[in-house]
Amino acid sequence: MDTLDKIIEAVAAAAPDIRGGLAGRRRKADEENPSGETQMAADVWADEYLEAELTAIDGVGEFASEEREGVIDCGEGLSVAIDPLDGSSNIKSNNSMGTIVGVYDAPLPASGRDLVSSAYILFGPITTMMVAREGTVTEYVIEDGDPRPVNKDLTLPDDPVVYGFGGRVPDWTDDFAEYVREIETNLKLRYGGAMIGDVNQVLTYGGVFAYPGLESRPEGKLRLQFEGNPMAYILESAGGRSSDGERSLLDVEPEGLHQRVPVHLGNEELIDRLESML
Ligand code: F6P
Repeated sequence: MDTLDKIIEAVAAAAPDIRGGLAGRRRKADEENPSGETQMAADVWADEYLEAELTAIDGVGEFASEEREGVIDCGEGLSVAIDPLDGSSNIKSNNSMGTIVGVYDAPLPASGRDLVSSAYILFGPITTMMVAREGTVTEYVIEDGDPRPVNKDLTLPDDPVVYGFGGRVPDWTDDFAEYVREIETNLKLRYGGAMIGDVNQVLTYGGVFAYPGLESRPEGKLRLQFEGNPMAYILESAGGRSSDGERSLLDVEPEGLHQRVPVHLGNEELIDRLESML
């Protein structure tokens, strides 16, 4: 089994344990994460759980998480960047959330072009895992920690159906607001407040997800290493596009571990149109 197989197997095996530990951890932790956001007890716990599992793998050289300041050096090999519980504020309202994993063949912070695989777990009514690797995307259902493939070579549907955009509407730029007015005539709004859940809908039905640059925060909210790059890798492997507004997220220069970036993901024609309007 190569290192990548071991990483994916470890993430799948951790999913039922992480899910099982959520119910008792719906409270806030005492700390903020390195991006200044309130951590939930579940964030801290999932982070520590995955750190132990992933740094123990022979062939993992670096480990970094959205929930901790620096990079952990744990040997020679691939670099793993995780968002242990994406959308964790949804734990309060019992809505979906997930875990994101990016595997880079370069020291962190790394370019999206150095990704060799990325994956996410979606904790919805059922637990699923999406894995992009060698240009293809596979969806698995996870039961008892075993991933069972249910959709091999998944691609974005040609006719887009849904859109979901973060940020308060008055804080959107005029150009982005104009784009929304144009596309909402044909698409249905689906926004759940956890990127994993919202992007999974785009992968299922076709459409576009964005957490754009805002008037008050031109860099947006989401983090390049832990969220933007891994999700871009999955969308692009499924035949879609990603953009920071001008270029593929995978071409954004990495400047810092916790750097934020405007994120737009979806069907090619919707992202092309967005770039022409921003
Ligand atoms: O921090 C990441 C995140 O929870 C994403 O999963 C989600 O897309 C976004 O923040 C939601 O932000 P907001 O609450 O501003 O809509």
